[in-house]
Amino acid sequence: NKKITIAIDGFSSTGKSTIAKLIAKKYNYIYVDTGAMYRAVSLFAKQHNFVGNDFLDKEKLISNLNDISLSFKFNEDLGFAEMFLNDKNVEQEIRTLEVSQLVSKVATISEVRRKLVAEQQQMGAKGGIVMDGRDIGTVVFPNAELKLFMTASADKRATRRYKELLDKGDKVTFEEILFNVEERDRIDSTREDSPLIKADDAIEFNNSDMGIDEQFERICTLVDRKI
Ligand code: C5P
Repeated sequence: NKKITIAIDGFSSTGKSTIAKLIAKKYNYIYVDTGAMYRAVSLFAKQHNFVGNDFLDKEKLISNLNDISLSFKFNEDLGFAEMFLNDKNVEQEIRTLEVSQLVSKVATISEVRRKLVAEQQQMGAKGGIVMDGRDIGTVVFPNAELKLFMTASADKRATRRYKELLDKGDKVTFEEILFNVEERDRIDSTREDSPLIKADDAIEFNNSDMGIDEQFERICTLVDRKI
């Protein structure tokens, strides 16, 4: 079988990573969550106090980019790779609402994108990869054999994210999650560098009313046609 590249883009909390992990497992592909990388850079900015209330010192972050080393390490128990920032496991820390409130701002910085895109292209150089994000089919792998674009209503997406955070014990309200989901989509879709848009050759999936099994089955059919 041919080892292809599968690019999954779309709005936040559309279940991209859930589906990507299932596909990677079935086809024995590598899964890369590129959002985790932007989140880790955002965490770094917080740790170094480049961030205040409603303020991000972009220049400081840019001049310290060489001190950021990102890596994924596969966790056998979880069945997926966890994000490491300068050799420290930050998988939990990058998923907080605080980081979610900062990450889209960090993701507008071209220098940050250039660094992360280069690393992503290297990880996927040999194919056999499922990568999810916002610009995978448009910028990172414009020649990917299969491109998916996931959408769902903002309400469904916020509900999904809200439940996840509640389960983890985070104290958040539905309203702030809904606001964050919509705000990130707005910033991501309107930024100048690599905005979130559907690639011409991407297949759109609106999963507002589609269960995970049905999506998985449909996507596997698409993959099987390509390999
Ligand atoms: O996928 P996730 O929701 O964790 O991504 C967090 C944020 O990282 C997005 O809202 C977006 O601002 C940024 N991102 C990006 N390009 C990617 C992946 C994520 O700009 N390829």
